[in-house]
Amino acid sequence: MRLPLPPQSRVVKKVLPRSLLGRSLLIMSIPLVLVLAVALQIFYGSHLNLVSRRLTFAVAGEIGGVADGFVHFRDPADRAWIMRQAQSNLELPMRFLPGERLPAVQDTSAADDELAGALRMRLGGPFSIDSDADEQNVLIRVQLPDGVLDVLAPRKRLYTSSPFLFLVWVGGMALVLFGIAAMFMRIQVRAIRRLAAAAEAFGMGRDHGPIKPEGAAEVRQAATAYNRMQERIRRFLQQRTEMLAGVSHDLRTPLTRLRLALAMLPATEATRQDVAEMSADVEEMEQLIGSYLAFARGEGTEQARPTDLAAVLEDVAARARRAGAEVTLAAPTGLVLPLRAEALRRALTNLVDNARRHARRVALAAARLGERGVQVTIDDDGPGIPAAEREDMFKPFAHGPAGGTGLGLTIARDIVRAHGGEIVLEDSPLGGLRARVRLPV
Ligand SMILES: Nc1ncnc2c1ncn2[C@@H]1O[C@H](COP(=O)(O)OP(=O)(O)OP(=O)(O)O)[C@@H](O)[C@H]1O
Ligand SMILES: [Mg+2]
Repeated sequence: MRLPLPPQSRVVKKVLPRSLLGRSLLIMSIPLVLVLAVALQIFYGSHLNLVSRRLTFAVAGEIGGVADGFVHFRDPADRAWIMRQAQSNLELPMRFLPGERLPAVQDTSAADDELAGALRMRLGGPFSIDSDADEQNVLIRVQLPDGVLDVLAPRKRLYTSSPFLFLVWVGGMALVLFGIAAMFMRIQVRAIRRLAAAAEAFGMGRDHGPIKPEGAAEVRQAATAYNRMQERIRRFLQQRTEMLAGVSHDLRTPLTRLRLALAMLPATEATRQDVAEMSADVEEMEQLIGSYLAFARGEGTEQARPTDLAAVLEDVAARARRAGAEVTLAAPTGLVLPLRAEALRRALTNLVDNARRHARRVALAAARLGERGVQVTIDDDGPGIPAAEREDMFKPFAHGPAGGTGLGLTIARDIVRAHGGEIVLEDSPLGGLRARVRLPV
């Protein structure tokens, strides 16, 4: 008994991709995405913050140094020297506006909080920051006792370069790696798919021979095991068929001799009855052997080929009509599927013969069963078989009161199953028995 799944695992089942490819790609990409997310978080969250804080602190320190110099040296020549030094060594162009005063209210935009904080720590007096001064620079104005010092601080000295490109690189690399991995995974999965398809085809009696082992070691191992199994089954079937054919064939000669001997026997009043019964028995044995041989002959060698089912049915119906039955046939043309035509003809003939033997009217019909296969029905208006006994009639030598050899249904089912299909017996709308044959496409 299977336990019902807890609700969360049912949800997981619905969300998870069903194919092996989907699942393995998911297994691969989850750690990749997680690692990237953690790495980016660490990088942006702390490292990048730290770097830009250090940069602003350095610039603020340099501006503070210059401002201290200006307070200390009042001589314009000294101040000019300081500004030249700042320009050439610190890459901070500046000018001094004597006597100027900064407006009282200073507006520092949020983006410059870091810079403002650093400057506040370095400078005693008021200052202002203008981030929109120009594309490359930030204008920092510092209030000194006798004027205003304007500093053009290059943005590249304040902020690290745009992280966008970095993101594109990381994302792009991840995508490329994912693509390569997906390609390799596809090859692996293809090997498994091929194995599944081969096993399925073999089960339907479409023998395409051994498959080429490829892909990962385990998949190759499975393919090799499959090939060996296929070989064993083939050998087993062949042995069974050969033995059946051999025994049947060897029994034929003595049986013929027996039949002839019985025919030659001088019939007296006392033995006539016995001889007649013996002759009937021998005849039945010959029939039995005939059907064994017919079965064995087709089983051994015939390969499945695309066959028009309607043509096979036409043939079966024509043969039954020649034997004097009233047979109708309703089958669309174009029902082409891989079949062992000889074997299937035998199976259908067995079913039609049964119907013919027990009924007056026989109706043959075929129809497509959606994408999955086709269905053939053989209906008759005879007495039918009680539902409880139907399944037993498929056993070898099972027959009802009218009884033939009891092999017809056994052989028919064997053949249909070798095609990957199934036969069942049901009630017929005609009042008798319906044999329904399903064949996969
Ligand atoms: N259409 C049918 N209507 C009524 N009974 C049937 C029908 N088909 C089969 N049966 C019953 O099922 C039994 C088994 O059928 P099966 O074809 O296997 O053997 P058989 O017809 O007796 O012998 P064989 O086909 O080997 O000559 C039959 O003996 C018969 O009693
Ligand atoms: Mg029969």
